Amino acid sequence: MSSEENAMTKPSDMDEATAKQRLDELAILLGSANDAYYQDDAPDLSDADYDALKRENAAIEAQFPHLKRDDSPSEQVGAAPAAGFSKITHAERMLSLSNAFDGGDVEDFVAGIRRYLGLSPDAPLAFTAEPKIDGLSLSLRYEQGQLVHAATRGDGSTGENVTANARTISDIPTTLENAPDILEVRGEVYMSHADFAALNERQAEADGKTFANPRNAAAGSLRQLDASITKSRPLKFFAYAWGEVSAPLSDTQTGALEHLQSLGFQINDRTKTFNGCEEMLAHYASIEEGRAGLGYDIDGVVYKVDNLSYQRRLGMRSTTPRWAIAHKFPAELAWTTLEAIDIQVGRTGALSPVARLAPVTVGGVVVSNATLHNEDYIAGRDSNGAPIRDGKDIRVGDTVQIYRAGDVIPKVADVDLSKRPDDAVPYHFPTECPECNSQAIREEGDAVRRCTGGLICPAQAVEKLKHFVSRAAFDIEGLGAKQVEAFHSDGWIAEPADIFTLRKRYGEAMQQLKNREGWGEKSAENLFQAIDDKREIALARLIFALGIRHVGEVAAADLARHYASWDALAATVDAAASAAIAHRAAEEAIVAERARAADESRRANLSAARETAWAETPSEAKAAWDDLTGIDGIGATVAVSLVTTFQQPSERASIDRLVEMLTPTAPEARATDSPVAGKTVVFTGSLEKMTRAEAKARAESLGAKVSGSVSAKTDLLVAGPGAGSKATKAADLGIETIDEDAWLALVGDG
Ligand code: IVH
Repeated sequence: MSSEENAMTKPSDMDEATAKQRLDELAILLGSANDAYYQDDAPDLSDADYDALKRENAAIEAQFPHLKRDDSPSEQVGAAPAAGFSKITHAERMLSLSNAFDGGDVEDFVAGIRRYLGLSPDAPLAFTAEPKIDGLSLSLRYEQGQLVHAATRGDGSTGENVTANARTISDIPTTLENAPDILEVRGEVYMSHADFAALNERQAEADGKTFANPRNAAAGSLRQLDASITKSRPLKFFAYAWGEVSAPLSDTQTGALEHLQSLGFQINDRTKTFNGCEEMLAHYASIEEGRAGLGYDIDGVVYKVDNLSYQRRLGMRSTTPRWAIAHKFPAELAWTTLEAIDIQVGRTGALSPVARLAPVTVGGVVVSNATLHNEDYIAGRDSNGAPIRDGKDIRVGDTVQIYRAGDVIPKVADVDLSKRPDDAVPYHFPTECPECNSQAIREEGDAVRRCTGGLICPAQAVEKLKHFVSRAAFDIEGLGAKQVEAFHSDGWIAEPADIFTLRKRYGEAMQQLKNREGWGEKSAENLFQAIDDKREIALARLIFALGIRHVGEVAAADLARHYASWDALAATVDAAASAAIAHRAAEEAIVAERARAADESRRANLSAARETAWAETPSEAKAAWDDLTGIDGIGATVAVSLVTTFQQPSERASIDRLVEMLTPTAPEARATDSPVAGKTVVFTGSLEKMTRAEAKARAESLGAKVSGSVSAKTDLLVAGPGAGSKATKAADLGIETIDEDAWLALVGDG
């Protein structure tokens, strides 16, 4: 919304009814802007626009004081949304952590690391264990000992520039002595309980706005456009990790933390080093016991492999390191009543039941919705038909127990049957889509019931569009979930391609858009520009953005790396069609056969049937199928899903319309100067100096593609002892074959 536009309706020209209506509208607009900023961390208005709305609200209230709403936006502080922060690209990605919820998960974590590194059970392997601080992470970059910038985590690759704010935090040194020339220090900004209570008291006195918990207070205080506000808030900082460094800090995690401490950073004094699971879990228990007396919020314990060369070898998955894990404290629980069960339709048509609850506070957060997963969950059984909650079903009117763990969506964990109303009836899961009335079916082996409406289902279309513009997909500035919903309901956009014709279709769009509430000439032009900026898009993002079932961020990246162009991917998926159909037919036959009986002769018949299906498949189709499913990480499920989408005429036409308007860019080879960059490598047989997972990760980090099967496209086979058919096939195809030592020598690890 432009400020000019707001000025158009002056309060002095307004009658009382209009004024009241406008105040109601402003309460909604400002409320949703606050939510977008504070809760979703995704501001949808610029500072100037937000300020203009607040001024308009104040002006109307001044003119009509008796119309002022009880929940007037002028009573709520809330700095302008932080659209004004510039962005900083992290020199090294800021990772998050995978979670462990019990001792068994921690044991699995430790065992997995031993396996990955190929360590025997008695080889020494030390871990640090430290509190997981419940604040927000911050990366501080020092060059020649000077703090040059500070950035929030953002999406891990790019964060917000909060340098001026970070400089006001006394735990953060602005100059360092004897530090490496380049040093990125990472850690958590948090607020102590005492400071939080005092701040809330001051806030209540000053303007009524208080924070729900110390983490919100810390986040709200750090992400202030006006650094003097941050300065007035008592924030603290613990260092626990680092990003780019020009010289190693140490060869252990413990040593590195001590180094950071010697440079002037606060490190957590409950950090200790241990040699095994038992000791780690004992430390967890002692931290949990002392939790209330710490004086600040923690939500678990983080374990990290102490040896930094092991950390390097372990590397990371897409967003989390393999060498660390967060062991979360147990979930919080509360009882409340289930008022209704609503069905939401997702982008792949999944019907998801949502519990609408009488609001209840669970661990400091008010919860009014919880997931009910699927129809089996409501009925009290798991996906194999075994009872859960002792077989108790969930009914509207029931008193239910809500479970909330960290950032996980709350769920209904239990039912108190003694409180069940007499008239409560079992819930009947709909067999029709509540949004488009198409049939909703549940396929064999699928826990989820899905709407079959495809593109005609408005809910699926909207969810697809929301996914399309989401952060990991097209991430178009100014086009978030809310705008997409509004544009869709107005008939402006029905499918992703429509986003890219907005400017053209609405030749006078500027005119129309700006007449829409919330838009001015400048914001409309900004939106069109932001859309144009995304016509050139990373191939992986494009693939992910299509929202194809089973094709998540990781699969999309694997596909992009392998095919490097949209056309190559599409050609292979198209070519693989008949093979995928044969595969699916054979699979369906297996399921049906299993359902009937499993006697030996039937099984033999079945595998014969499968052979026949494959025998009738043209060899080019089989080659394309093998190519697709040969990509490490891409299995038959993803391949079938891709083919199904590409073969569905209206879906395909919609994808083609989109791709035509875009320039997908090939992923950068991870390393171009390595001897294996761009090569397709297959590992087979047993490897002795590294595990298979490690070999794959290392090869990929050097720019190689790792495939699970040998084909004409294979450049190199690394064969350990016991290599079987793959080695024979490679020999037949004349593919270079080397042993593990030769591989290590080749990649410089020998
Ligand atoms: S280590 C590469 N250590 O938890 C590992 N993270 O859930 C980087 N956090 O994004 C994180 N206390 O914001 C680490 N002692 C600690 C932590 C910690 C809190 C946060 C951090 C991270 C999040 C993951």
